[in-house]
Amino acid sequence: MKFRDDLPTPALLLDLDAFESNVATMAAHLRVRGKAFRPHGKTHKCPEVARALITAGAVGCCAARLAEAEVFADHGIPGLLITTAVIGRDKIARAVALAKRAPDTMFCVDDEANVRELNAAAQAAGVRVLVAIDLYFGRTGVLPGTPALALARVIATLKHLTLVGLQSYDGDAAHTTPFDARKLRTDGSMAQAIETKALIERDGIACPMITGGSTGTYRFDSENPGMTELQPGSFVFMDIDYGRIGGPDGPEYRDFKNALTVVTTVVSRPPGFAIVDGGYKAFSTDRPFTPRPVDLPGVAYGWAGDEHGRLNLADSPRDLKVGDRLEFIPPHCDPTVNLYDAIYALRGDHVEAVWPIAARGKSQ
Ligand SMILES: Cc1ncc(COP(=O)(O)O)c(C=O)c1O
Repeated sequence: MKFRDDLPTPALLLDLDAFESNVATMAAHLRVRGKAFRPHGKTHKCPEVARALITAGAVGCCAARLAEAEVFADHGIPGLLITTAVIGRDKIARAVALAKRAPDTMFCVDDEANVRELNAAAQAAGVRVLVAIDLYFGRTGVLPGTPALALARVIATLKHLTLVGLQSYDGDAAHTTPFDARKLRTDGSMAQAIETKALIERDGIACPMITGGSTGTYRFDSENPGMTELQPGSFVFMDIDYGRIGGPDGPEYRDFKNALTVVTTVVSRPPGFAIVDGGYKAFSTDRPFTPRPVDLPGVAYGWAGDEHGRLNLADSPRDLKVGDRLEFIPPHCDPTVNLYDAIYALRGDHVEAVWPIAARGKSQ
């Protein structure tokens, strides 16, 4: 059996106790409130993580991309929801093939021409494809209200598509601070989805599902009687960014534990600095802050290129030498995970499992 300190660096580590606690916390929270749980697989891209979530009560797994969903389907993960539209002839053919082998897969749509192409391909293949209308809250989607109703009416006329409901994800709500402002933001967005569902149903078109929500908004969305299911992702791992969105008792968001770290090695020790073997290729982020060393309080990491990071040791509580190993909390978990082939799942210092990140790089 391998131990934490045997692993070549940089490597992605998962603290299984923290991960299992995060999964159990979210699953129990949603179960008690009667909400279906379809966590987003874009965070982990890892069939073993998806399976652990299903064991905890998830009804399936969201995927950001068709290729990601294909990998999850290859590994037997049920209940897939692809949260971005599938555009173009090649992808539509693959979507229909996926619907054939995994008939409970759902596809998000927001465009009439695309919906008609999907229907034609489904007809040619002799399958029925499940679709959810993606509502616009600042990125993709069709506007809630009458524009969404118009698309629902088109879908209702197409024999090879079935409308399963509304995809209602407000990405900006997830990181709105502080806590009370986040509630206001998501409640306002989800109210539009609920009104849209009622509008479609008054038109005689079945629209059973409203799915949405995130690690940042799950507390509010899960109390919303109109929401039928939630699709949070980052809670399984957490990251610096999510730690900063604020909770009910202050600026730190403490609902979930940091389960994911990147371990690096000090590879050089110029005067005043320690250089570690983790740079842009070890941590990916779109945020303005850098990776945080786990047990070196007060020491700042600075980017030092693709392969390296620089620690200024002026205020370090201890000295570092070449060969020392340092773990960091990543600024943003999703794009960091996408850089690695595998997650080393640790129980204490033991490597209990190595989980391939089978859908890493699968963005087509
Ligand atoms: C469509 C969709 N749903 C759910 C999520 C999960 O959000 P989070 O990782 O913030 O929990 C994301 C994340 O970007 C998303 O794009």
